[in-house]
Amino acid sequence: MEYKKIEAKVKDELSEKRFKHSLGVAKKAVELAKIYGVDEETARKAGIAHDIAKEMTGREISKYIKENNIEVDEIENKKPGLLHGKIGADIVAKEFEFTEDMQNAIKWHTTGRRNMSILEKIIYVADKTEENRKGKKFDIEKARELSIKDLDETLIFLMNESINYNVKTNDLIHPKTIEARNSLLIKI
Ligand SMILES: [Fe+2]
Ligand SMILES: [Fe+2]
Repeated sequence: MEYKKIEAKVKDELSEKRFKHSLGVAKKAVELAKIYGVDEETARKAGIAHDIAKEMTGREISKYIKENNIEVDEIENKKPGLLHGKIGADIVAKEFEFTEDMQNAIKWHTTGRRNMSILEKIIYVADKTEENRKGKKFDIEKARELSIKDLDETLIFLMNESINYNVKTNDLIHPKTIEARNSLLIKI
């Protein structure tokens, strides 16, 4: 499906604020795609659609999961907000004809996972560094600077910040984030 149609559908699903965030992610994803050698249109489409399921209600999430056989783990069960990645990936596969890599970029943008593709990394980083983000939880300017120099270092920085934040607030940490961080540290 062409970009403009996807953008219109995303706009229909989201509040003004989150749509603006999505436009920011699409823009940042294109910037990163140019630097790290990924097709720009692919990055733009994945960026605009990454939060398509973010504003579903609890009831809508439960219904969607049952009807579409989405697997839910024990952490997601406690933090259903994490599920918008998995559900979003299912939606873009069925409605926007997204490729598997594009689906995965959406699926894993909330937790990360081990051995992420470049597109997956780009969407993870773009989500946290796009121009409209305020970055109250971490040094966003540092993350933005890093993002145009070294994608893996940016991911490690962002994952460290996310893990630290969850420790400080005594919140659950998804094991996929730990696995992602370990795989990056082993690689570099
Ligand atoms: Fe998200
Ligand atoms: Fe997002």
